[in-house]
Amino acid sequence: GFFGKKQGYLRTFHRKSSKIMSKDKVQIFDTTLRDGEQVPGCKLDTKQKLVIAERLDELGVDVIEAGFPISSPGDFQSVHEIAKLVKNATVCGLTRSVKKDIEVAAEAIKVAKKPRIHTGIGTSDSHIKFKFNSNREDILERAVAAVKYAKSFVEDVEFYAEDAGRTDNDYLARVCEAVIKAGATVLNIPDTTGYCLPEEYGAKMKYLKENVKGIDKAILSCHCHNDLGLATANSISGVINGARQIECTINGIGERAGNTSLEEVVMILKQHPYLNLDTNINTRLLYDTSRMVSEKMGMPVQPNKAIVGTNAFAHSSGIHQDGVIKKRETYEIIDPKDVGVSESSIVLTARSGRAALAYRAKKVGYELTKLQLDAVYENFLRFADRKKEIVDEDIHEILETSKIDIKS
Ligand code: KIV
Ligand code: ZN
Repeated sequence: GFFGKKQGYLRTFHRKSSKIMSKDKVQIFDTTLRDGEQVPGCKLDTKQKLVIAERLDELGVDVIEAGFPISSPGDFQSVHEIAKLVKNATVCGLTRSVKKDIEVAAEAIKVAKKPRIHTGIGTSDSHIKFKFNSNREDILERAVAAVKYAKSFVEDVEFYAEDAGRTDNDYLARVCEAVIKAGATVLNIPDTTGYCLPEEYGAKMKYLKENVKGIDKAILSCHCHNDLGLATANSISGVINGARQIECTINGIGERAGNTSLEEVVMILKQHPYLNLDTNINTRLLYDTSRMVSEKMGMPVQPNKAIVGTNAFAHSSGIHQDGVIKKRETYEIIDPKDVGVSESSIVLTARSGRAALAYRAKKVGYELTKLQLDAVYENFLRFADRKKEIVDEDIHEILETSKIDIKS
């Protein structure tokens, strides 16, 4: 049938491609401590930021955006301490296209093993007119000057074209070309307002790949916001169309509706191997890292959050439970162990069937025959209709109050 054919196709394609092509790396640029920390009420102190930075380094992110050093003495201090501490990742500080910003950021990150300055300016007509009361030529000059100045402090300079999502592609290409000439190593194309559709954002990347002279000297970077719930889709569309860095945060936290969620893009690339893209992330640390960031920021993770929500590997309807108990893959596309969750859970509710009840009873020590199960099931449903969820203690009670002879 259709399903078999499609799977067969993917298998063949994957086998072929893994022989011939090695996978392209997508750099993971984590901005939990900069864009993520801009969330109202989520301020972290330096000590908390250091613990998170150390964990991000262990997780395998390629770049840690540690903060915006000019913004406050506290942020400067945090960026500086993180730069000293981090062993593997590049440590990056954000600036506007302003001399003083660049000097202060350079000072904060200079102790890093791999320092990067992230400078830039708004390039959409709306930003040029209303934020800067300026014009395209002047903005282009300021962009080039900022990159050149940053380059006098560090080799690795990333340029962001703020509101690139709503910037005219021709002008954006001109800006990119000019900043590459000035020495930019990474070009960040932010969808600052989270407005783009995946097709449009992907087409923007493709346009830049095909129309910017010298583009092979730089890496294109996706930086997406989630105002329409499209940050992950847009970032994936970006890398399919030639970008090789994704800017993201743990749990997708960030300004307004948040940034692209790190765990989502990493697992999408892992679960779709025929895309031939992968990352350096140790995915088994994803769940713990998510909990750690949530706890430190006082920002709960929604239960149905992809990859790291408490329900991400919980099955509650009878049909699904029966399938998963027979073979996990029937209703799960990710092995929970791959993200650091020990096993999927079978939640017992009044929607559960006999298979789930037998499975959970066995876990707490009862092997039920088919006849016993039939007898217990009626009793179970009466319990389950009264309670939202049946926990282990309830199972003991249900079995003991059922009129059958059970040896545990
Ligand atoms: O969303 C955005 O445009 C940003 C830039 C400062 C990189 O966060
Ligand atoms: Zn942003």
